[in-house]
Parts: sequence; C-alpha cells; structure tokens
Amino acid sequence: MSTAGSDPCHLGIAHALTERGWCVTPEFLAAGEAAQLLAQACAHHAAGRFRAAAVGQGAGRQANAAIRGDEILWLEPATASGASAALLARLEGLRRDLNQQCLLGLFDFEIHFARYAPGSRYARHLDRFRDDSARVLSCVLYLNDAWVAQDGGQLRLFTGEDGTDVVDVLPCAGTLVTFLSDRFPHEVLPARRERWSVTGWFRARA
Ligand code: OGA
Ligand code: MN
Repeated sequence: MSTAGSDPCHLGIAHALTERGWCVTPEFLAAGEAAQLLAQACAHHAAGRFRAAAVGQGAGRQANAAIRGDEILWLEPATASGASAALLARLEGLRRDLNQQCLLGLFDFEIHFARYAPGSRYARHLDRFRDDSARVLSCVLYLNDAWVAQDGGQLRLFTGEDGTDVVDVLPCAGTLVTFLSDRFPHEVLPARRERWSVTGWFRARA
C-alpha cells in the first residue's frame, strides 16, 4: 500500500493498530504544543466552562463521580483556535493516514478536554456504547508535566484476550494512546495530582 505523503509517526500507529489494536506514542506532540493546549484547557476551566462528565446514554445518562470523576469541555471545530485548532488539523491528518493504511473507514471525530481533580478516577469501561457502533478508535492525549508513578492517574489498558494482561500508561505531556474502542476495557486509576488530557473518538459513518 502507498505510504507517499504519510507522516512516519502515523505509519507507526497504523502498524501497531493492525498488529495488536493499541498503541502508545510518546512525544506525539512537542512539549511546547502540549503546554499551549494545557494553558487553553486551564483558561477554559477557570472561566467555568467545564462540566461534570456523565456515564451511560439516553435516559440512563447521569453524573456519578464514584464511577467517573472527571470534568470535560467538548471542543467545537468551528470555534477552536491556536493550539486546539492545530491539534484538530493534526488529528485530521492522522485520520487520513489511518484510513489509507488500516481501512478503518474513520469518518469524523468527537473530542473533549478532561480534567481529573486529585482523588478522582474513571472505573473500568469500554468506550463503545451498547447500542452505538460509531466509535471505532479511542485517542487520549495527555498534557501533564513531569508526571511520575507516585502521582497515580495511570491509564490501565486491559490488553489480553482474557482481560488479564494490563498496560499502565503515565499521563505525561505529549503522549498519545490509541486503541480500538470495542476491544479494550480500560480505567483511569485515582490521580493524586490534577490530571489534564484531550480525549477523542474517531467514528465510522453510523
Ligand atoms: C475516557 C477515558 C482515559 C484517560 O475518557 O473514556 O477512558 O486516560 N479516558 O483519560
Ligand atoms: Mn474510556
């Protein structure tokens, strides 16, 4: 298959997704880009624009901090500017490269900032809603400087066939995690520091 014009980093992600369905990419963003995104997220948060995230769908949708403790702000492509507009453009390039390499039929994208206050977590879950097959690929990009294991807040990805193998990822600035939304249960372990990320899903045509 042609790789002309494709970003080598994107080809690495395509290869890993084809081989095993998940990928961790440190330095997907340069430190300066991640810092600018963090500054945007903090400014939106300070302006009171984040909302408690909900779990479930339709009539069963509700906030439940024991299951999911983050606050989120959806990014609107029409009004994104600066670092978030640059990120959306980069993810559009990733979408095109993945479609060319993996034939995933990725059609559009939904994306939000997320903030976990110290002590909050997201219990084990799958990103695909029970009645909705549109979410194909989950993407999480972290914005946190100098994160260490003692800070908690790892993304724990259950990668084995029987769900026993785990991969723990530190939410370090610039690291991107991608995984097939219907295959990998995962959780966010309780964070001991404020934990910032951008989380999105590439969707297929419903
Ligand atoms: C999610 C999620 C993981 C993370 O928002 O669905 O699983 O590491 N996030 O923030
Ligand atoms: Mn998830």
